[in-house]
Amino acid sequence: MTQDELKQAVAEAALEYIRPKLDDDSVIGIGTGSTANMFIDALGGIKGQVNACVASSEASADRLKSHGIPVYDLNVVDKVDFYIDGADESNAALQLIKGGGAALTREKIVTAVAEEFICIADESKLVHTLGTFPLPVEVIPMARSHVARELVKLGGDPIYREGVITDNGNIILDVYNFAIPQALATEAKINGITGVVTNGLFALKPADVLLLGTSEGVKTLRAE
Ligand code: 5RP
Repeated sequence: MTQDELKQAVAEAALEYIRPKLDDDSVIGIGTGSTANMFIDALGGIKGQVNACVASSEASADRLKSHGIPVYDLNVVDKVDFYIDGADESNAALQLIKGGGAALTREKIVTAVAEEFICIADESKLVHTLGTFPLPVEVIPMARSHVARELVKLGGDPIYREGVITDNGNIILDVYNFAIPQALATEAKINGITGVVTNGLFALKPADVLLLGTSEGVKTLRAE
């Protein structure tokens, strides 16, 4: 199966996972990226059963609206039942690297509210140690050089993501050559650098479930 076929399979599996649990009151958090887009398109097929969504990016909000699915501001909902999103990497503890699509901060905010975070990814995303994928860090623009110097002190090689401004008006530094064996400590340490909005490690609040698309079918993984 191709990577896109595996992504499609996990998007459909996520729909089947939440569908029996949906009620008139449910709020679904929606992530960003190609796998999340496939989930949005699958959700469009049952839009009559969808009470409300909140989105982690303007792009996902626009895609949801194009299907006629109601999208709300996070501030006007009092809960988010599920958050469904892809990832750039996951380890066996379901600690993630996210932010390849530059939506990491809003993704982390919706994750913080969600009662259950369902990560959807193809099998290439499952790794032993996080960090082969460069770690995205969202930074206030005037702090770019300062934050880059601090990231070098931590052992990484930060590269400015040219031409990208986040939905929050900030820039992204991608940290290369940065193996992350201690994701909890690294997430907290980078978030402590002045000028960092957030970083793409989701370890303090990892995924609850990983639906992993493999050539043998979709596997449901929980944190080890
Ligand atoms: C966007 C993200 C995405 O979830 C991540 O980049 C995976 O994307 P894709 O589903 O396209 O492989 O974190 O900020």
